[in-house]
Amino acid sequence: MEDLYGIRGFIIDAPGFGSLRAYRNGALIIERGRIAAIGEYDDVRRSERGPKTRWIDHGPHAAVFPGLIDCHTHLPQYSVVARGQNQLLPWLRESIFPIEREFTGPKAREEAPKFFQELARNGTTTAMIYAAIYEDSCHVGFEAAERSGLRVILGKMMMDLGSYGTLQPKKVLSVSLAESERLCARWHGKAEGRLDYAFSPRFAVTCSEKLMRGAAELARKHGAYLQTHLAENREELEKVHNLYMSAQDYTDVYDKAGLLTPKTMLGHCIHLGTREVETLAARRASVAHCPTSNLFLGSGLMRLNDLQRAGIPVGLGSDVAAGPELNMWQVMRAAIDVQRARTFHDASVPPLRVSEAFYLATAGGARALGKAGAIGTLEVGKEADVTVIDMKAVRPYADTGRRVNEMSKEDVLALCVYRAGPHATLETYVRGKSVYRHPQLASQP
Ligand code: GUN
Ligand code: ZN
Repeated sequence: MEDLYGIRGFIIDAPGFGSLRAYRNGALIIERGRIAAIGEYDDVRRSERGPKTRWIDHGPHAAVFPGLIDCHTHLPQYSVVARGQNQLLPWLRESIFPIEREFTGPKAREEAPKFFQELARNGTTTAMIYAAIYEDSCHVGFEAAERSGLRVILGKMMMDLGSYGTLQPKKVLSVSLAESERLCARWHGKAEGRLDYAFSPRFAVTCSEKLMRGAAELARKHGAYLQTHLAENREELEKVHNLYMSAQDYTDVYDKAGLLTPKTMLGHCIHLGTREVETLAARRASVAHCPTSNLFLGSGLMRLNDLQRAGIPVGLGSDVAAGPELNMWQVMRAAIDVQRARTFHDASVPPLRVSEAFYLATAGGARALGKAGAIGTLEVGKEADVTVIDMKAVRPYADTGRRVNEMSKEDVLALCVYRAGPHATLETYVRGKSVYRHPQLASQP
């Protein structure tokens, strides 16, 4: 793709929680991977200087959004989505560890490229991901991520208690730390900053204090990310309480190990006390809210407004395979449904609006990942991570009713949140480069 081109459509982004910005007959000029101009098409055309722009016009039904951001998902688990009818710990034992155990060698090499293609097909441009415990599962994941063109933060799963690996228990800790550091040295910041490393201790149930401390030290040393799971399920809480009797609470276990930093992403965070919420806010750690997963495993209903009131940056996560889809539109919808369900027994809970859920999946996710300067909204100077939706594919009657540019931005967005998915993704771009094109466009330039 050339260095300079324009995209036309109904452009919508969310610069703040609950605030939408739109250009109905919009245009976006992309120059060397960055947004060089944005506005109404006529205005953008009038201000054009220099070489002539080639326009990509997906037609009168195209809606253009910032690329979606998935703050928490699992590469080796995608093949077993929707499997298991249990809560977290038995589900991990019965459905997940067996499949992660196999995610190495040819299987990992075969699945990893498909996984990234699926993300792009769903409109996701940035994802924070766990690999399996094997060094090759993560290395192969990075190779596929590099080739996919997506923006990826990935880490080798670390666990030294009750692991599905075959290493002698005595060796697991040092091998896990050494392999993780090697992968970080090889991949962190590569592809001109499109790839990042995340040290990834699974959770306190399967990690010794030494491993968590070691992971935290390595992340600090290399300026890399950290990711883990926190307070997802009541049985998990009970286990952590019994393992770490001297800790004040679950959050304190991670705090003592040095895991809570501004580069830390904590999955779930459903069952937290007030002290824990304050601690996360004080350490400036971020949270990945995974509503589809929390419903699938019956984990609980996230107290989203409490975390936000404390100032904790929150993004959304598909958490495949506990979440059944990589489709972040469905994750937004579930986030709305979860807050709605809470209002049924507590009238003081504020509902989550469509515009707010969309913020969480775009600018909110970018902020939670410390990448708000580069992605999350569509503004001049930002990197051009974009997904284009065919509104014909999300409206009940494709070719009847009002033209898309006669609809309100709220209605266009709501149709996407409730009905968009791979069938409706026309094209996805990262840094202005096309990473997915709908097959029906294949023959077009
Ligand atoms: N907690 C620890 N590991 C996992 C996992 O793989 N998925 C989910 N949902 N929770 C976890
Ligand atoms: Zn997870």
